[in-house]
Amino acid sequence: MSQAWWRKAVVYEVYPRSFQDSDGDGVGDLEGVRRRLDYLAWLGVDTIWLAPFYPSPMRDFGYDVTDYCNVDPIFGSLASFDRLLTQAHEKGLKVVIDFVPNHTSEAHPWFLESAQSRANQKRDWYIWRDPAPDGGPPNNWLSHFGGSAWTFHERSGQYYYHAYLPQQPDLNWRNPKARDAMHEALRFWLRRGVDGFRVDVMWHLVKDASFRDNPPNPDWSNRDPQIERLLPVYSADQPEVHGVVAGMRRVLDEFGDRLLIGEIYLPLERLVAYYGDGLCGAHLPFNFLLLNAAWDARSVAKIIADYESTLPAGAAPNWVLSNHDRPRIAARVGAAQARVAAMLLLTLRGVPTLYYGDELGLAHVPVPHDQTQDPWAKREPDIGVGRDPARTPMQWDASLYAGFSTSAPWLPLSADHRTRNVSAMRQDPASILTLYHRLLHYRRKRASLVGGDWRLLEAGDSVLAYERRAGLETTIAALNFSGEAIEWSAPASRIAVSTWGDREGERVDRLLRLGPDEGVILESQGE
Ligand code: NOJ
Ligand code: MG
Repeated sequence: MSQAWWRKAVVYEVYPRSFQDSDGDGVGDLEGVRRRLDYLAWLGVDTIWLAPFYPSPMRDFGYDVTDYCNVDPIFGSLASFDRLLTQAHEKGLKVVIDFVPNHTSEAHPWFLESAQSRANQKRDWYIWRDPAPDGGPPNNWLSHFGGSAWTFHERSGQYYYHAYLPQQPDLNWRNPKARDAMHEALRFWLRRGVDGFRVDVMWHLVKDASFRDNPPNPDWSNRDPQIERLLPVYSADQPEVHGVVAGMRRVLDEFGDRLLIGEIYLPLERLVAYYGDGLCGAHLPFNFLLLNAAWDARSVAKIIADYESTLPAGAAPNWVLSNHDRPRIAARVGAAQARVAAMLLLTLRGVPTLYYGDELGLAHVPVPHDQTQDPWAKREPDIGVGRDPARTPMQWDASLYAGFSTSAPWLPLSADHRTRNVSAMRQDPASILTLYHRLLHYRRKRASLVGGDWRLLEAGDSVLAYERRAGLETTIAALNFSGEAIEWSAPASRIAVSTWGDREGERVDRLLRLGPDEGVILESQGE
């Protein structure tokens, strides 16, 4: 167990629409990802997570699937997937793919059948309920993208449930046939050689058997997303979900050393339950604690300490700074702290997940109103939930479309793309890309960072300092979360990596001076 490859992995999320276009249609594709494998290997990550590339009407950009065992033509074909997978493996990279089990597209043949009539043999593969006595929806549950989670289906006179868009009907995981069919889809990709899955909205898979109303959230204000009006007591995170997760895990275990990651937005105590009793659940329930962290040393220290002390024995920790649903880290904490965040992510205990483009320090890329793509932003336009600004194309070089495509990309590039791009930043020893590269390669060869334990050090209000130790090797991270220079009485050591790339090799003798927004990695002396 402790030997599993993924315990040492660094995951890199690729949003295929936005990574590299190979056929000039302005949308990224799998052949594009294949062409950039050398970059990923150079950068120093070892596991690629591909967001969905399945056939889809793209109402939610691929999270509305019409066929779990194929590739949408916009992204390529099964042949282009196989080529990508083979070449990734040749370069020592693992490939984890997205799996979207909670809902299909309304255009999935299963749903088309299910909607035929109440008597259809796939009726129970989805969640159909009679109208309430007044003809309205069966209960008060809300869609994540605003509005009721129930849509009335005229022809069969019932409502169907959708946790997301009306075009994304929820599957019924209580139905054994639906479950078996989904397990077969997992096997389809496992046989092809994928190294694992990132499972979409894992905590949503089972709903209350009697569909009780959710209670109101007393803290909701009309500046918050509509979904937060209610507390999701009955619509998600039901006890039976753990049986479903264990079932998926058993399918993976048929194939040996494959990785199961769960996307789960829950408070810590409930999140860790997804490791499963006896660790028979997800290997890595995504830890999103840093996504909402107040960005100061004390708050972040508390988050890490709470997480460390809540993890079940033997469970593998993991950390995430950004993803395709949330504002980018540089948008949240600013350019200088984005470097500190990179150092944090890559020196914590457990598996880090990077989001493509964060290594360039990409921040919020404004998307003009009339170019909005995200369905959530369209349904709740005025509260800033739009995800497009964090999904813009990867920037490779200084050419017209940044080397992403030969035609105008589906979302805009950042205004500074002629300088904020891989080819320029690779040459610049002070760039954030160089910092990521340095951190990733340093981490690799440092046993205490890859597998050592973690201990918080006292360093005042502005500095987060901790020690990682494996055997005789000790590594310390000291991160200044403030914009003020500060002094910390550090152990005698040597600076191995600094956020601005200008202090490597410096000796530290008791007093470490950290500049504003500066972080350093220290190696204890005497090694
Ligand atoms: C979570 C995905 O990350 C997000 O992009 C998507 O909209 C929802 N699940 C629905 O599948
Ligand atoms: Mg393309």
